[in-house]
Amino acid sequence: MAKNIILVGFMGTGKSAAGRIVATRLKRDFVDMDAIIEDRTGKKISEIFADEGEAHFRGLERELTKELSAREDLVIATGGGIVLNPDNIEDFSKTGVVICLHADPDVILQRVAKDTHRPLLEGDDDKIKAIRDLLAKRQKLYDAIPLKIDTNNHTARDTAEEVLALYLGQTTF
Ligand code: S3P
Repeated sequence: MAKNIILVGFMGTGKSAAGRIVATRLKRDFVDMDAIIEDRTGKKISEIFADEGEAHFRGLERELTKELSAREDLVIATGGGIVLNPDNIEDFSKTGVVICLHADPDVILQRVAKDTHRPLLEGDDDKIKAIRDLLAKRQKLYDAIPLKIDTNNHTARDTAEEVLALYLGQTTF
């Protein structure tokens, strides 16, 4: 049994794409928290935000964090807001290596421009401002995570290689 690998970071930093590659390379199960929440509720994340509100979604994220941090051998892509509750990072750190992916607002914009499934950026004509504002509010929470990867000029494969290197540097098997 080995420690989980948990990828955190703002929307569009490449958590899911890199996580999938890392899981394949390590022959582990990949878990996308948003996808699990959508499967279990039968709703899209944007529908949960619209119908029940953000606080309800954060509660679902919190419960899923407790569940996943009680398991091992997983590669987990979190939602961008997982850092909002410090208990989530504390729980994940007990059984895993938490790595924060970073990207600049203009790079994030390019990566999320065509998406319509991110409620916190939807309906905002000035998307770059929405990204900058939200990022500024959360920056210190992301910065508090010791292991970081700058994904600005990275493909998902580049990021996955760095995740593996960081993880292997942190773990003794
Ligand atoms: C959120 C990020 C999204 C999703 C939800 C809220 C956030 O996940 O969990 O829309 O608060 O940053 P991604 O980071 O996978 O886009």
